[in-house]
Amino acid sequence: MRILSGIQPTGLPHLGNYFGMMKSAIELQEKGEALYFIADLHALTTVRDAEALRHNTREIAIDFLACGLDPKKACLFRQSDITCIPELSWILSTVTPMGLLERCHSYKDKLAKGLHASLGLFSYPVLMAADILAYDSDVVPVGRDQKQHLEVTRDIAVKINELYGDIFKLPQSMIRDESAAIPGTDGAKMSKSYGNTVELFLEEAPLRKKIMAIQTDSTPVESPKPVEGSAILGIYRHVASSTDYADMETDFLAGGKGYGDFKKRLFAGVWEYFAPMRAERVRIASDPGEVDHILNEGAKRATEIAAPVMDRLRKAIGLR
Ligand code: ADP
Ligand code: TRP
Repeated sequence: MRILSGIQPTGLPHLGNYFGMMKSAIELQEKGEALYFIADLHALTTVRDAEALRHNTREIAIDFLACGLDPKKACLFRQSDITCIPELSWILSTVTPMGLLERCHSYKDKLAKGLHASLGLFSYPVLMAADILAYDSDVVPVGRDQKQHLEVTRDIAVKINELYGDIFKLPQSMIRDESAAIPGTDGAKMSKSYGNTVELFLEEAPLRKKIMAIQTDSTPVESPKPVEGSAILGIYRHVASSTDYADMETDFLAGGKGYGDFKKRLFAGVWEYFAPMRAERVRIASDPGEVDHILNEGAKRATEIAAPVMDRLRKAIGLR
């Protein structure tokens, strides 16, 4: 089974990315041949700062490795290193009906957020289809917001197969359950676009500051605190043992303790949970050559996997 997924380097990984995507992606490396890439070509639709794009791309790679991605088991690479992807994207775009892309929610959502209506933003799902179809991917684990892009990918693959014969394998999506999205510091879903993130590997002081700034209601210290919808508990659930979590919940319900106290416990929980990964991160980051080597080897392997698929396609459509 070949598992493929990508993450855009639009910022540094945060707790939502880790518990919502990175953790399960890393676990999946035991279940099949995993290919994970940093979607820097996709990020060009929104990131205009070259240094930030380069920096974030590298930091995401380091974070994945620090969190347990094993380059012997999973292939980690930069999207832009696989030079056949833009070619494939172009070929796919020639059979993609405009209406298919016009129906995509993510394009409309991005315009509503004030993003510039570029051709790249519009054709983003075609580039994503190229990412997926290039490697004969079987399974694509993504969040619910990407489900429609998977459907577009399958539609495009079917279209090519109808026109030219059996070229592409049809990928299956693996949609994550997002009923338990990780809350951000304002209680809404943690997301770079809401400015409410807690990055994975903050230094101690900035991490403490972010956690102490989590928004809470004005329930007096002595009163019971609402458990439902609490950002503190919503994050703590992921980093604490079940007994520590149950203790905090009991203390919420009992009253007599203030939010400051709970935030201190949350800070300690997050700090401890990531301690071994933080140590590993320091080790990896101290050897920039190792990260380059892993990304280059990943790109080599991904290129090898894509080569026969591209050959098959080019022959069938009349190129070469
Ligand atoms: P952001 O919303 O911060 O821009 P992305 O859209 O780049 O994050 O998400 C990258 C991955 O992390 C996706 O697979 C997404 O489903 C997951 N993810 C992001 N935020 C959360 C969250 N708060 N809870 C759970 N998963 C999340
Ligand atoms: N569009 C995805 C996101 O924003 C990232 C991505 C690009 C991706 N290409 C992909 C995910 C291919 C899975 C497969 O999160």
